[in-house]
Amino acid sequence: FTVHLDAHDTGKGTYEYYMLKEIDEQPAVMRRLVATYTKDGAVQLPAALLKALAGASQLVIVAAGTSYHAGLVGRGLFESLAGIPTSVELASEYGYHQGLLTAKPFFIFLTQSGETADIRQVLVQVKAKGYPSLTITNVGSSTLAREADYALELHAGPEIAVASTKAYTAQVALQALVAKGLGVALGQPAATAFDVVHQLGLAAAGQQALIDQKSRLHELARDLFATTRNAFYIGRGTDYYISLEAALKLKEISYVQAEGFAAGELKHGTIALIEQDTPVVAIITDPATAAHTRSNAEEAAARGAKVLFIAARSEAEPSDQLIIPDIDPRLSPLLTIIPGQLLGYYTSYDRGYDVDKPRNLAKSVTVE
Ligand code: G6P
Repeated sequence: FTVHLDAHDTGKGTYEYYMLKEIDEQPAVMRRLVATYTKDGAVQLPAALLKALAGASQLVIVAAGTSYHAGLVGRGLFESLAGIPTSVELASEYGYHQGLLTAKPFFIFLTQSGETADIRQVLVQVKAKGYPSLTITNVGSSTLAREADYALELHAGPEIAVASTKAYTAQVALQALVAKGLGVALGQPAATAFDVVHQLGLAAAGQQALIDQKSRLHELARDLFATTRNAFYIGRGTDYYISLEAALKLKEISYVQAEGFAAGELKHGTIALIEQDTPVVAIITDPATAAHTRSNAEEAAARGAKVLFIAARSEAEPSDQLIIPDIDPRLSPLLTIIPGQLLGYYTSYDRGYDVDKPRNLAKSVTVE
């Protein structure tokens, strides 16, 4: 079936909650980004933006919440494809402590809503210093889109559920497109070798394959999280970044105290929290880190943890419970977040919560 994402498509249709509808829209969002930002396989960006980015001595990505987690993935894309040193900053912290900057920093503001006050206060400071800026947002008419020098839209369609889903994957995909376009402009061989259109096609197909396993993910959510009060996600590199985002999905809508940890840090403290049946989700997609993360997860299992192994096909063992289709490891979060989102969704749903409107949270936070 086809998902239509036009400006009027704000209804829930047959869905009980917007969140599930928005999860389901992600493959279409991937294809829409490719259609919007590429032509004949080449990335199309405004020439002035490309020139400003190409002149940068460093990139500083500033964001909050889920968008911050997308920025962590973006850093790897910008550094490996464009060869520009990149840092990722929490907007609410960066306003008070700005690290040392090199001669020509370029600021990238990642924000679904374009209205987050913590981010805006950084933009105001950045503009006062005369540094160039780009806002990547889902709302083209938003404050941050208007006030930055440049703006790129995610074209994900309105995101209504408070827990962000399609904006996250759109942010990761659009950063991949920008990093590819920038890297090619700078003559980086790694960028030339990276077929972003093919990879985002794999992402759309892989997301659909995972979305099609909804009932399996519902079962896994029941097995693992039905009554728990806490849960851990672990991984390394991009699998760590997805652990942070998957844990955020679980905590914000199902009120489980869920934490994402760098798998290698478990042994430096967190493993003390593992008790009989503590749920641990191990994300294993990157060949460079797979063996180590697996052994960390096995250590947790040996201490009683109930471990759900989510692994890329190429890294999987026969006993792993969920297989992720293969993709460039830098883009694996486009796939691994799907089970993260669905595990959060079904846990919240089964507990009878209002999935779209979790307590104490707002879709966009306009106070610092
Ligand atoms: C709020 C939302 C989060 C979101 C964060 C940043 O806290 O509840 O889902 O990730 O703001 O929002 P932004 O619109 O700037 O991406």
